[in-house]
Amino acid sequence: MRARLLRDYRSQYANPIAFAAGERVHVGAADSEWPAFAWMRTGDGNEGWGPLAYVAAGDAGHAHALRDYTARELDADAGDEVELVEEHGGWWWARHADGATGWLPASHLQLDATHRRDGGAINLADKLAGIDGTFSPRVVAEMNDVQFKLVKVRGDFTWHRHDHTDEAFLVLHGTLRIAYRDRDAVVLNAGEMTIVPRGVEHCPSAQDECHVLLVEPRGVINTGDAGGALTAPNDIWI
Ligand code: NI
Repeated sequence: MRARLLRDYRSQYANPIAFAAGERVHVGAADSEWPAFAWMRTGDGNEGWGPLAYVAAGDAGHAHALRDYTARELDADAGDEVELVEEHGGWWWARHADGATGWLPASHLQLDATHRRDGGAINLADKLAGIDGTFSPRVVAEMNDVQFKLVKVRGDFTWHRHDHTDEAFLVLHGTLRIAYRDRDAVVLNAGEMTIVPRGVEHCPSAQDECHVLLVEPRGVINTGDAGGALTAPNDIWI
């Protein structure tokens, strides 16, 4: 699968950890930002983030590696094309046109949409792990002209309406409140959904971070008629 860099990425670690299958690895605390990863120390004394799924737990904080791994990240510029090999916890192992390989955060990549109809599983938790910030919808799938977008909500969004379409909200995590001018607000917990009718002014908000799957036609702008600072770039895939 191919992807294009949305913005520059530069590797964060000068000396990335690496281990081979069978090697002993010390496993420390999990990463709060990237829960699929933990702080690890390899036999050579080097330390860094490693995927928990790549090791099997042993005793006293030690584990043995189930497969080869390197934490090497890839340097790439906005607009560069890369070949994606494998996804893990919001990161892609990628190969640059110049032959270099390394990890890239999914949040920096626009995937080729045609590959989203290959019948494969789309893991929403992995996608969410790759989304930086709130009120920045990311497309995870498309069916006919309808897009499925993930968005993190915290605080108040802006009052707006969509004159040409209804808008579906399915809450995956947390609690979402949608206020209306002309009727009671609706409060949705994880596993609940609603349809905001077209043309009806609404204002989503969440006290604590909330994760939502939006379903709406391709091309819908998040702030509708209102515009303003919270208007997000459209049609960005993750
Ligand atoms: Ni809306």
